[in-house]
Amino acid sequence: MTKTLHAVRGMNDILPDEAEVWENFDVIIRDWLKGYGYRPIRLPIVEPTPLFRRAIGEVTDIVEKEMYSFEDALNGEKLTLRPEGTAGCVRAAIQHGLTVGGGRRLWYQGPMFRHERPQKGRYRQFHQVGVEALGFAGPDIDAELIVMGARLWGQLGLADVRLELNSLGSAEERASHRAALIAYLEKHEDALDEDGRRRLHSNPLRILDTKNPALQEIAEAAPKLLDHLGDASRAHFETVQAMLDDAGIAYRVNHRLVRGLDYYNRTVFEWVTDRLGAQGTVCAGGRYDTLVEQLGGKPLPAAGFAMGVERLLALWLEGGEAEYAIARPAPDVYVVHQGERAQRLAFRAAETLRDVGLNILLHCGEEGSFKSQMRKADASGAQLALVIGDDEAAAMEVSIKPLRGGGAQQRAPFAVLAEAVLDTLHGSSDDHDSHGMIEPENAGQDAGVKDGSV
Ligand code: HAM
Repeated sequence: MTKTLHAVRGMNDILPDEAEVWENFDVIIRDWLKGYGYRPIRLPIVEPTPLFRRAIGEVTDIVEKEMYSFEDALNGEKLTLRPEGTAGCVRAAIQHGLTVGGGRRLWYQGPMFRHERPQKGRYRQFHQVGVEALGFAGPDIDAELIVMGARLWGQLGLADVRLELNSLGSAEERASHRAALIAYLEKHEDALDEDGRRRLHSNPLRILDTKNPALQEIAEAAPKLLDHLGDASRAHFETVQAMLDDAGIAYRVNHRLVRGLDYYNRTVFEWVTDRLGAQGTVCAGGRYDTLVEQLGGKPLPAAGFAMGVERLLALWLEGGEAEYAIARPAPDVYVVHQGERAQRLAFRAAETLRDVGLNILLHCGEEGSFKSQMRKADASGAQLALVIGDDEAAAMEVSIKPLRGGGAQQRAPFAVLAEAVLDTLHGSSDDHDSHGMIEPENAGQDAGVKDGSV
């Protein structure tokens, strides 16, 4: 027997029940983004490898060990499956001149790829919704990005998502802090773990972010970047906080929040929850004022964030307005039929009803009895069934059977099909005559479908 193939570890199929939750999420996301003036941008999944090395930083987990990089077999070009969206978005903005002409708010979504150890909430292919605000220097956009997040959690009905905030200052300020930090960490070098020793001189800031319980005390007592901020960075950070206070958004300044990508400066933030176990960061971002220039554009301030869709949806289903999350789109009408002529009329009927904007599920495949077809109609969640048997087909008529909330079965000429179905759907009871509806007693008899008989 041929061996069945499975998806790559850490890369998930999203099956219809779940994919519908994603679609419900998409509807909310699009409205929410419009509310803040964000415009969509669609970006390639594969980018030149040097883009990520330059943007994210050589000494980061992502670039050192998590990228899916490969050589194009045809021309040897070094390519990488995008591990995040900011680098590609900035690359596209520079390439297409979106960096000129004032501030721009852009958003994207799609799969990202990181070769991490898969566990609950951490995947090798995962999805982000990301926003990037290009060309805004002030603290107002930082605060707006954060307020946006808070609004979305409210709209999704998510509780227990808290905000952690920090400022990484400027490159010079980080250099000054870095010197103090290295001097401090060198004194504790013997106590550092392998990662820590490796990063001591390359990326000491990341040591503050360590999850190693043995290093918590050392990290906690380390020199704080906040103490090395100059006046401008300090004022920027204070205004962000004041705006969040005005908006009534609670936060914790976490001086050890450093982020795993190197492009950040000044404001950085993460939205975290305790409800998802170890992978509790649902959304993260910050300011990256030097990235555009680093990638070859003219200097341009920028800030943004990305959220992990899988994590947010897990939270939504668990604690949010799950009812809305799992709301399933049902067809308006399920079309059942029996016999060859009836099948052809049913096929036409379905298209006629789609012409007026209705969602139609036409019974296809094995014909089965009317009874089994009606069971399927009911299970589909459709509002009504259109029933076409030999007799209806011969008379060029259809039977309309409401499936929810009672209502009598009616028969109508095919010529007024759409009007009759729309009337029934909208609960119109007074104009059977106007659309040539035939009295309930006559309906569906020949098709063997009587009210309540299925
Ligand atoms: P990030 O913190 O690397 O930032 O990722 C953002 C979010 O993506 C995380 O908070 C998490 O929810 C989700 N995420 C990351 N890795 C995984 C994974 N392996 N499995 C599931 N979810 C994951 C960025 O990517 C930046 N580009 C964000 C940004 C945009 N900064 C400025 N603009």
